[in-house]
Amino acid sequence: MSDPRILTLRVLRSSPGEGVTPHWEEFRVEEAEGMTLFIALNEVRETLAPSLQFDFVCRAGICGSCGMLINGRPGLACRTLTRDLGPLITLAPLPVFELIGDLSVNTGKWMRGTAERLQTWIHAHAEPDLTALEAPMEPALAEAVYELDRCIECGCCVAGCGTLRMREDFVGAVGLNKIARFRLDPRDGRTDEDFYALIGDDAGVFGCMSLMACHDVCPKGLPLQTQIAFLRRKMARTGL
Ligand code: SF4
Ligand code: F3S
Ligand code: FES
Repeated sequence: MSDPRILTLRVLRSSPGEGVTPHWEEFRVEEAEGMTLFIALNEVRETLAPSLQFDFVCRAGICGSCGMLINGRPGLACRTLTRDLGPLITLAPLPVFELIGDLSVNTGKWMRGTAERLQTWIHAHAEPDLTALEAPMEPALAEAVYELDRCIECGCCVAGCGTLRMREDFVGAVGLNKIARFRLDPRDGRTDEDFYALIGDDAGVFGCMSLMACHDVCPKGLPLQTQIAFLRRKMARTGL
């Protein structure tokens, strides 16, 4: 058996609250069987840099809190195996979001703002049909809603989107995906005109330049490309 690799984690460190400007620091760890970046970063924090900031909750690709730039590409640290990377790994915080420190960013603030702006909750029908509301949803439709509901709000699509680097008010693929999800849901009483009022402009579906990084980096494999193209066609018709 060959000796384990020694990995170098090159981490962009900063602490805006304490006036620490961004700088690179390198940490060396011995690779273990099945090691993820979560495990490697924990080892760094336990043995080399107790002040290192990064976010984790579930370690299973569910909570969405461990998004970061891994060799320049947005991804989840808890789902990234070190064996899939070279011996030098660069880690930086996701751009776009408010930086807390080191690899920790405030995705929650951005996601909450977008949710409030796009009103991503079920809006009751003006005259609710109680029988229809209590009827079970067709399995195919329930499956389609569930598919889009798998978003974990990790922010990878936001960090990878070129449009968001140019206009702060763009709702991003995550926002467009939410609208697609509520449009599908028969319990939501909003019309296409209502959805058009929320995303029918350059901060919404017409601001997307089809760069498709969102689709490529989404760790949940959501069909963002299809959904955005569909919404754009639909909104273009609605707006005429
Ligand atoms: Fe993350 Fe995908 Fe949701 Fe974007 S759409 S926030 S990449 S899970
Ligand atoms: Fe951005 Fe995705 Fe559109 S990367 S430009 S939201 S296709
Ligand atoms: Fe929850 Fe990575 S720690 S998704």
